[in-house]
Amino acid sequence: MKIISFLKKIGAITTPDEIIETYYQLKQAKIEKEKVIHQERLEKIEEIITRDEKMQKLKKTITQVANSEAPVLITGETGTGKALVAQAIHYGSPRCKNLLVRVNCAALPEEILQSELFGHERGFFAGGHKKKGRLEFADRGTLFLDEIDDISPTVQTKLLRLLQEGALERMGGEKTFRVNVRIIASTNHDLSQAIKQQRFREDLFYRLSPVSINLPPLRKRKQDIPLLAEYFLRKHRKYREAKKQIEGISKEALDLLVSYEWPGNIRELENAIERAVILAKGPLLEKQDFPLSIQDLAATEKTFPSPSRALREIEVYLLSGRIKKDNLMSKT
Ligand SMILES: Nc1ncnc2c1ncn2[C@@H]1O[C@H](COP(=O)(O)OP(=O)(O)OP(=O)(O)O)[C@@H](O)[C@H]1O
Ligand SMILES: [Mg+2]
Repeated sequence: MKIISFLKKIGAITTPDEIIETYYQLKQAKIEKEKVIHQERLEKIEEIITRDEKMQKLKKTITQVANSEAPVLITGETGTGKALVAQAIHYGSPRCKNLLVRVNCAALPEEILQSELFGHERGFFAGGHKKKGRLEFADRGTLFLDEIDDISPTVQTKLLRLLQEGALERMGGEKTFRVNVRIIASTNHDLSQAIKQQRFREDLFYRLSPVSINLPPLRKRKQDIPLLAEYFLRKHRKYREAKKQIEGISKEALDLLVSYEWPGNIRELENAIERAVILAKGPLLEKQDFPLSIQDLAATEKTFPSPSRALREIEVYLLSGRIKKDNLMSKT
């Protein structure tokens, strides 16, 4: 905040918009500097840790699409890495020298979201100054629209125009601004359902998703669990005192982690490891260092499979041809 007071004092900035603009300029300068000093830090793709075959293929796709200009739609359950993939695409693209601007569409009420994205002219909001939208800030860079499924019909129409013509007007303004922004959108919902219910424009969906990337949940790539657990262990033990260094994860604890279904996916796994690193008393993370909810659910999983797992197992059994599906159906 010292810098803001200083800039205000010398009259370099006066309005809140100028503060925001200064913020983005400083962020831009920081990216430039980091890029020269730590080129490798921008290689976000390497932060996607996986040994799963499908994910390895996705990583190749991500590297390829990064080099194109096409919009990308990233789908997947909460915590599967959508934001991480958006960063990998931006920093792997020629646009990496410019800004990656993120907007969480679900977090903002309709009018605020509109003004955040497209900006507004002076006087549009009572007593308000004019304001640049984040699309203008993202010019020559990337705009990451997080949780896109929640946007109103008006924002949808404006976004469609932007994607088709690269043009926008600020709220309450007539002047057309041209911007060169790559759009990456993400959702953890099924957009086809929203289209059926006429909550989401089909034409916008097609414009947003010439490339779509669907991230599988962690329970469908269980071989990644030990790898990720080890990665997060290394990441979080750095913050521990040297004398309490953690060396690894006990076999029993690792079995527990692999048998759990992880509804919160990788974010939940990272939180669990971080917590266990704090609680661990010995050199290994033990079963009891993990939340009871994980211990209980994993125990239930072992004796009573969840309905979805039971259904999957029955499907595999049927597909194996050991029982004819028709036989089964005729008996029910
Ligand atoms: N394959 C991965 N390797 C390493 N870290 C990962 C991986 N996938 C996700 N993460 C980490 O897990 C956390 C959650 O990921 P992220 O925020 O990208 O998920 P998300 O899909 O955007 O979730 P939400 O829908 O809740 O916003 C982040 O800290 C991210 O860095
Ligand atoms: Mg996210």
